[in-house]
Amino acid sequence: MSHSRKILIVDDEPIIRDLIGRYFTRRNYEVSLVSNAHEALMAFQKEKFDIAITDIKMPDYDGKWLLRQILNEDPNMAVIMITGMDDTKEAVDCLRLGAYDYIVKPFDVEEIRIAVDRAHERKSLLLEKQNYQAKLEIKVRERTLELLRAYEEIELTYQKTLEALITALDVREKSTGGHSKRVVEYTRLLAGKLRIRGPQLTSVTRGALLHDVGKIGIPDGILLKPGPLSDEEWSIMRQHTLIGYHMLKGIKFLKPAMNVVKYHHERWDGKGYPEGLSGEAIPLGARIFAVADSFDAITSHRVYQRAHPMDEARTILAEEAGKQFDPKIVEAFDSIPNRVLERIRLSSRRSSALVVARMVRHTLSGVETA
Ligand SMILES: [Fe+2]
Repeated sequence: MSHSRKILIVDDEPIIRDLIGRYFTRRNYEVSLVSNAHEALMAFQKEKFDIAITDIKMPDYDGKWLLRQILNEDPNMAVIMITGMDDTKEAVDCLRLGAYDYIVKPFDVEEIRIAVDRAHERKSLLLEKQNYQAKLEIKVRERTLELLRAYEEIELTYQKTLEALITALDVREKSTGGHSKRVVEYTRLLAGKLRIRGPQLTSVTRGALLHDVGKIGIPDGILLKPGPLSDEEWSIMRQHTLIGYHMLKGIKFLKPAMNVVKYHHERWDGKGYPEGLSGEAIPLGARIFAVADSFDAITSHRVYQRAHPMDEARTILAEEAGKQFDPKIVEAFDSIPNRVLERIRLSSRRSSALVVARMVRHTLSGVETA
């Protein structure tokens, strides 16, 4: 909306005041004339001006005082000072305080016009800049929101894809129903005991969920073979760690979980696979998972093995501390009471495809429970 430009003119000398006033009225300005700083400030607080022109030397409050008050209310306001020949030092002070310009008496009204025009120019540039900045900020906010939405969508798509992968694996291996759920819960519990929190905990539990995803690449004849595997078959079976790693390594948000997938069959004594790492060279998540996974294997029915009671499982794990497992992790596991482990086992029996799917979603979304 365009409006006529408004000028506030402050001078205690009526002749000068009227001279400037008439000049700008003729040029279609809306002019307000006041005779002292106090009145000027009142006018300024009541309505909006584009420019103020004020004498410096006035009785009571002077122009410098008024300048301070005005800039306090509106730091972008253009204030032009009028000063006597003998008083230019004061005018320079005013510039330092933030005055836009100063005019020395006696003056030609044209001088004032030039200063006023320049002040207008500066003001419109300033406004333009502010508008541009505001628009830019809105745009940035919109784009950020769009990005966040896209990111959420991508993550959801990943989750759905992985859900399908795990379900496919569970369906194919029929006999291991509930295994995924239990090892995820044992791993979460054990990692918690070891004071792993936040994103690191999410990674480890995601890794636990996905640990055997590479078995999708193992032929049925080996994966589902009821009897013992030959040496050659074992060497194929062992490839599931690397197959899983290669399947998932391109998925950025799963990268931290990759260590569990790749190294969950390494042993503390260095006799594991795929790389034969030993001790703390094995990533922590993989060391934690190895204990949780073995505990579940020992306490579950398998075609080739009866389920061991929990206390026996603890003894077996203790015997393997320092051989297959990190002793500190076995110790931490041993501090988890039987009833807590039992609760996980019981709840996994109720596991149906639906429960597994929900658990998968929960784990991948990184929402942690106690
Ligand atoms: Fe495995």
